[in-house]
Amino acid sequence: MIDIHCHILHDIDDGPPSLEKAIEMLRAAKSDGIDTIIATPHFNSTTVPVISLRRSELSSHALQCGIKLLTGCEYTLSDFSAELEKSILVLGETSFVLVDLNTCSIPQFMEQLAFKAGLKGLRIILVHPEKLLTAKSLPGMIELHLHGVFFQVNAASINGKSGRFPQIIAKKMIAAGICDYIASDAHNMKNRHFEMKQAKSCVTTLFGNDAAETIFELNPQLLLQNKEPESIAFKRKSLFSSLWA
Ligand SMILES: [Fe+2]
Repeated sequence: MIDIHCHILHDIDDGPPSLEKAIEMLRAAKSDGIDTIIATPHFNSTTVPVISLRRSELSSHALQCGIKLLTGCEYTLSDFSAELEKSILVLGETSFVLVDLNTCSIPQFMEQLAFKAGLKGLRIILVHPEKLLTAKSLPGMIELHLHGVFFQVNAASINGKSGRFPQIIAKKMIAAGICDYIASDAHNMKNRHFEMKQAKSCVTTLFGNDAAETIFELNPQLLLQNKEPESIAFKRKSLFSSLWA
């Protein structure tokens, strides 16, 4: 599997504090079925200059574990908006960028921001909206999705480790066909680890093998090819009913 959102670089944000802890995470990722990680530290003016150094310190260890290590960044909505006029760190060599809403509702300017990003050749992936938004936001999320904003759900949310409500919203997003990716957002080996295998198994049980393969395998592969994700097959059938499920 390809993990498109992970805080595995050491001594840079609230991820692992040392190289040794980052190597522990690499081993755990490998045994969880992950062979490519896009390391995505939280954006700020102090992390950005260190990302390539941390990647070079960790990449030989990653290769020894059989993991390809790429880099990107996780922006807050306000940072993304401010940095859009300058330069944006994308996922690997793609035009996709991770953005965290950081609010409990979808801002009115979101559609316009996605349009502005599109003019600069960038495509937004909103990360873990299920941790912030309620079911009331689902129609707005579907509307955004129609306007080319993609969504990434956390593995821990599907597994129920982030609480009942994120799990409910995550399932509704899959049922509505707007969960494009599931990633770990792993930070450490204590309480925010990978859980991708378990999440894939949950999605397979609840939504079938095709949906799980699309979300966990096909779409991240398409992303690395700089191509947009495919919608999961049952999208149209359950778009309406899922809003009220
Ligand atoms: Fe994150």
